[in-house]
Amino acid sequence: MIYVCGIIACSSQRHQRVAPILKAGLSRLEYRGYDSVGIATLDASLIIKKDAGKLDEVDKKLVLDSLPGKIGIAHTRWATHGPPTSINAHPHVDCKEGVAVVHNGIIENYIEIKTFLISKGHAFKSDTDTEVIAHLMEHHLNEGENSLEAFRKTISSLKGTYAIALLTASDPQRIYFAKKSSPLVIGVGEGALFAASDIPAFLDQTKKVVVLRDGELGYFSSSELYIEKDGVQVKPRITTVNWTPEMAQKGGFPHFMLKEIYEQPLALENTLKIREESLEKVARLLLSSEKIVFTACGTSFHASLWGYHEFLRKLDKFILPVISSEYSHYLHLIDENTTVIAVSQSGETMDVLKFVAGVKKRDAKIVAITNVVGSSLAREASETLYMQAGPEIGVAATKTFTGQVLMMNLLSIVTQYFEGLITHQEYQKVMRSLAELPSIISRVIRTVEPRARRIANEIKRSKSAFYLARGHNIPVAMEGALKLKEIAYIHAEAYPAGESKHGPIALVEPDFPVIFVAPRDEDERRILSNVQEMKARGGKIILVTEPNSILIEHAHHSFVLPYPRSIYYRPIQNIIPLQLLSYFTATARGLDPDKPRNLAKTVTVD
Ligand code: M6R
Repeated sequence: MIYVCGIIACSSQRHQRVAPILKAGLSRLEYRGYDSVGIATLDASLIIKKDAGKLDEVDKKLVLDSLPGKIGIAHTRWATHGPPTSINAHPHVDCKEGVAVVHNGIIENYIEIKTFLISKGHAFKSDTDTEVIAHLMEHHLNEGENSLEAFRKTISSLKGTYAIALLTASDPQRIYFAKKSSPLVIGVGEGALFAASDIPAFLDQTKKVVVLRDGELGYFSSSELYIEKDGVQVKPRITTVNWTPEMAQKGGFPHFMLKEIYEQPLALENTLKIREESLEKVARLLLSSEKIVFTACGTSFHASLWGYHEFLRKLDKFILPVISSEYSHYLHLIDENTTVIAVSQSGETMDVLKFVAGVKKRDAKIVAITNVVGSSLAREASETLYMQAGPEIGVAATKTFTGQVLMMNLLSIVTQYFEGLITHQEYQKVMRSLAELPSIISRVIRTVEPRARRIANEIKRSKSAFYLARGHNIPVAMEGALKLKEIAYIHAEAYPAGESKHGPIALVEPDFPVIFVAPRDEDERRILSNVQEMKARGGKIILVTEPNSILIEHAHHSFVLPYPRSIYYRPIQNIIPLQLLSYFTATARGLDPDKPRNLAKTVTVD
């Protein structure tokens, strides 16, 4: 079984019981998985409550808050193989129920370990790889090791990826933890310490964090933190994050997705704060490279495609966009003269990390564009550009897409300046104009929302939709289609508008939604014939365009966005109506856009 999961652990002298804190943390980690949940606390002995289902459902049945104890661990799970059942839910325990463990990742050698432990008389209850960790710890404790040594030995036997938190009755004040390739952060509060897959899980308790690195393990109590790597003690690197707990909450919106759509002006403002030196360093790296390769998955890939179109139009170089999971087919093109721009909101997407690991062996330079400080991707890269969009909880990426596109634009502008393609005056003018972007986006969101809501009601029963565009608008159409698919479960296809006549148009019948991303650029006239051919077959034409477009009179609905001061506004403002259209279509269909079926926010498996 493999998982994408969230874990949280807490030891506190400040609270009567840690169970409510763990439950609150789980609710903020549900984006990492939500098919089963469980909590273990240690009072006089270990007490465990767990079951299959979303947190609210399990809580209704088991009243998770009621667990006693000032120390505990908790888990929310997302299974990709095998049924989500109560037995397979974490925490997992050893034979004597003296050890409990939660884990995110994959123990690749769990079958060998399990076989060994069975030969020593251990009895297993679940089908999971995780359970071996609890039994292995028990095995070393039985051999007379103290808890720390038993934990060290346990971890040293594991192959694969893991973020682990472990409770043992043999050492009731401490939580043991270890990290390799799966994210794990420690929160340092007054009289209470935490470990979690992500900072928002404990952000209401503390803003002081230690981002653990691969190979680190240790323990914490309510007042002590010990970390080591390769047997040598490591001084905790405590940093203070500036996110408020409210930023990680819904802030009055019915869903995180809508809240995050509305947060885009603020997120863009933060992205604009990036230091020019950071952009300059990357621009120089790009200009000194023979080849530039963009890589990412999902929404981040669409942002990369925008970057690809933008750089292709400006630079005379070999430039290639590659979906990260396809990396093995492109490796031979990548060498020491290549800079790879790896884009990942989470910085933890396994496909991206594997791509990066592969191209590093070929001496390529790595630039990361990510939202998560200290993420695995950031640590692998020689240069990192942080979007600073704040935590994104909704599974559907929204504010991080516009942040990534803005980052691509900033990078392109600086690169053009260094290449002598624009003068200093032009450079300053375009940079200054971008300062207005957040307030324009804020206006766009407010003005298009009512129309998006109305159109969503009209298309909510559609089985399929097309998203059409030309040239550099195609990535935005692709992103619009992905949003509709993933949260409204309506089949949506994006392709270059001129392709319709080669097949797809056969699907068009009365009321079939055809959404055109068609700003007033050089392709406007050519798009007109595509609009007409779709309309002639009964297609419902929905347009994203700008004032006085020749297309408006042919459309059933038009989102007319402001004529942009700079072409760099376009992808960012054009995606807004498409994000809202998907959101309202999902809610009109009675779906929860924050928890789309079969998806997890961070995909740490390949
Ligand atoms: O964290 P990342 O940006 O690497 O995630 C990549 C994709 O998994 C992600 O964009 C996914 O496609 C989202 N569900 C899109 O809304």
